Formats: sequence, C-alpha cells, structure tokens
Amino acid sequence: MKFFVDTAEVDQIAELNDLGMVDGVTTNPSLILKSGRDILEVTKEIAEMVDGPVSAEVVALEADAMIEEGRKLAKIADNIAVKVPLTWAGLKACNVLSGEGNMVNVTLCFSANQALLAAKAGATFISPFIGRLDDINLDGMELISDIRQIYDNYGYDTQILAASIRTVNHAYQAAMIGADVMTAPPGVIKKMAEHPLTDAGLATFMKDWAKTGQKIV
Ligand code: E4P
Repeated sequence: MKFFVDTAEVDQIAELNDLGMVDGVTTNPSLILKSGRDILEVTKEIAEMVDGPVSAEVVALEADAMIEEGRKLAKIADNIAVKVPLTWAGLKACNVLSGEGNMVNVTLCFSANQALLAAKAGATFISPFIGRLDDINLDGMELISDIRQIYDNYGYDTQILAASIRTVNHAYQAAMIGADVMTAPPGVIKKMAEHPLTDAGLATFMKDWAKTGQKIV
C-alpha cells in the first residue's frame, strides 16, 4: 500500500519522508489555507522534496477554467497530480488533462457510481472520502470495498486513494480491503506505530537490562 501524506506542512512531510514513509502528498484548498503558504510556492517545494505524486487542486468550477488551472499546476513539476472535483465539469477536465499525459486525482468521491465515471474519464487516482461519510453515519469502508470490486470486475487501472482517513482503524481497514493508496494526516501515520503492549514490553526490557549492568556500545 502506498502512503500519501495529507498536508501542506513542509516540515511534517520532511519528517516522514526522511523515514521513507512518503510515497506522495495530497493537498486541498483547506490545507493550503492552513499552511498559510502560496499554493504555487509550497507545491513546488513539496514536489521537489518528494519523489511520488503531489496532488494540487484546481479551484475553478467550469471545465475550461479547470483545465487552464490544471495545466498551470502541472507545469510546477513532473510529479504533480492535478486534483479535480467529482462533478461533470471535473470529469471533463479529467478527460482532457489525462489525455494530455497528466496524472489526475478525482476528489470528493462519495459513491461507487462516481468512482466508475472517474475511471472512465481516465483518472489516475479516485479519492473516496471515508471520514466524511462516517461523519454522517454512512459506511466509508463499504464504499472503498464497492469501488475495489467494480474496478477489479472491469480491470480499470485507476488507483483507489482512500482519503479523509481520520483514524488508525481507517488505515487498517482500507489496507485490508485493498485500497491502492491511503492519504492520511501525519499524526495518523505516526499513531500507526503505537501499541500499549509495545510500550509495556519495552519498559520491562529496559528495567531488566539495567539490572544486568551491561552495555552494548
Ligand atoms: C484528500 O485528498 C483530502 O485532502 C483529505 O483526505 C480530506 O480529509 P478530511 O475529510 O479529513 O478533510
């Protein structure tokens, strides 16, 4: 499973990237706002740091304007994935931009039918938003599972990018279902390393080791 980091905070991306945990990055207008950075500048900085795809989102609502923005974002670096919303205009922009050889991430996906349309429009990534479905008492994981089955039924190579991951359990379930990628905030990725039995076991080992009086180096 590929790990994308869902943030525009350069320091946090760098910390995980140094551990080899980062296969890509996703941003959106809200994350750009949170970073306080200029979208073109921060996207360039991230794209230079990370080897994999860096999603940068268009903000126009009409297809032609989305395509124009997408072309500009794609020029930032070779590893930019242009992010477009799952609307008819977004699907049109996806079709044109992917036809021009760009990676396209179709975002704000909340149904299997939307995901099917994105695959037909040539999306590189489809981003179903798990957490936001859970927020309204729907099952985000069921959506990931349905998309997995539909894409496998027909051999679509659009990658399922499980997004809006809020918990370590979301990460686990998306991996079990076979999402190709997950994008999660840095805090969730770091939390995946935690287990109370690991902490307890380590504390016991340290206590016993101290009693031996030995040193390794
Ligand atoms: C994905 O690309 C989005 O940026 C992100 O996962 C949205 O997550 P949220 O619902 O927690 O804002």
